[in-house]
Amino acid sequence: MPSRKIFVDACLGKETPYTPVWMMRQAGRYLPEYMAIRAEAGDFLNLCHNPKKACEVTLQPIDIVGVDAAILFSDILVVPDEMGMDLSFVKGEGPKFSDPIKTEADLDRLIGGDEAASKLSYVFETIKLIKKELSEDIALIGFTGSPWTLATYMIEGEGTKTYNICKKMIYTNPTLLHNILAKVTEVVKLYMEKQIQSGIDVVQIFDSWAAAIEPSMYDEFSWKYMLEIAEYLKEKYPHIPIIIFPKGIPSFLDKVYGNFDVFGVDWSTPMELAKEKLGDKYVLQGNMEPCRLYSKEMTTKSVQDIQEIMGTSRHIFNLGHGILPDVPVENAIHFVKECQRVSKK
Ligand code: CP3
Repeated sequence: MPSRKIFVDACLGKETPYTPVWMMRQAGRYLPEYMAIRAEAGDFLNLCHNPKKACEVTLQPIDIVGVDAAILFSDILVVPDEMGMDLSFVKGEGPKFSDPIKTEADLDRLIGGDEAASKLSYVFETIKLIKKELSEDIALIGFTGSPWTLATYMIEGEGTKTYNICKKMIYTNPTLLHNILAKVTEVVKLYMEKQIQSGIDVVQIFDSWAAAIEPSMYDEFSWKYMLEIAEYLKEKYPHIPIIIFPKGIPSFLDKVYGNFDVFGVDWSTPMELAKEKLGDKYVLQGNMEPCRLYSKEMTTKSVQDIQEIMGTSRHIFNLGHGILPDVPVENAIHFVKECQRVSKK
């Protein structure tokens, strides 16, 4: 059976001969081959805008680390950028938007719906190129940020430790926040639909900053919007699996609901707990602490522990968040090999 089918089947919760593996941020600064292409492209955003180079970077980890699925090379922040928010990546400081949203008038100025989604044509071109170049055998994962995670950058203007500006909006101007989230959700629905039409096999929604919202308000300000996207896509494309990755919300596990396929377990949520609460309803993905990649022994131990917990339950091996730039490549390869070794059923 080709591994592409195994990957998609595993995400859909079907019986498969082994548990597939991929890594979040598998293309990135820990790979010298990535750094070489990144240097040629200059700016990180140039790389995202260049389908030929983005395709090359997407394919690199397949041969180098031997994962079962490729993840599209792009960034979650291209969506607000094309809505008109002027994104830049400042060296050493991460992403910045020059003019964050403060008022309804700021929001009204942003491009919405199909007009914004269509401006992401370079992403769709990248996907089409990847599908030509990628072995038929390998699945391609497309992705988006959740409306909440995207909104944190659109409101704060950059990454934040405290989320005070967007949290102030939760408590003092929830209507504006809902309007922002609704506008982003409309764009993301169409963006992901176009990614599917361009050829992706699996969708992942990253809610990286889920834990910034207090648990009693998480459904209202984040989960609900991700579900709206998942339900829109599932109705039209039921064969395309949807992975939802909300980082750091163990107290929400009891309340998880909706029509999607895979729940991405982050490294701070115990796999036992996720299995107990969600293992019957969803396929689980994860969840090795990415910093274990600094030690091969600690990696081996974690992979074995995860396999022991999951047993024959439906599972996709992955890290519990993104890989860091100073991880030795051979340790990343070791992680993939260990997953493959223990997952032979
Ligand atoms: O996983 C992959 O290999 C696919 C590519 C991918 C990137 N970003 C490339 C990237 C994916 C899936 C993302 C998602 C993303 N981007 C998220 C959600 C996932 C997560 O990690 O929680 C978030 C929050 C972003 C926003 C973002 N992009 C930040 C905060 C940064 C700066 C990070 C840093 O450490 O400086 C980026 C830049 C970015 N996106 C890089 C890569 C490879 C590094 C850019 C570079 O210097 O080459």
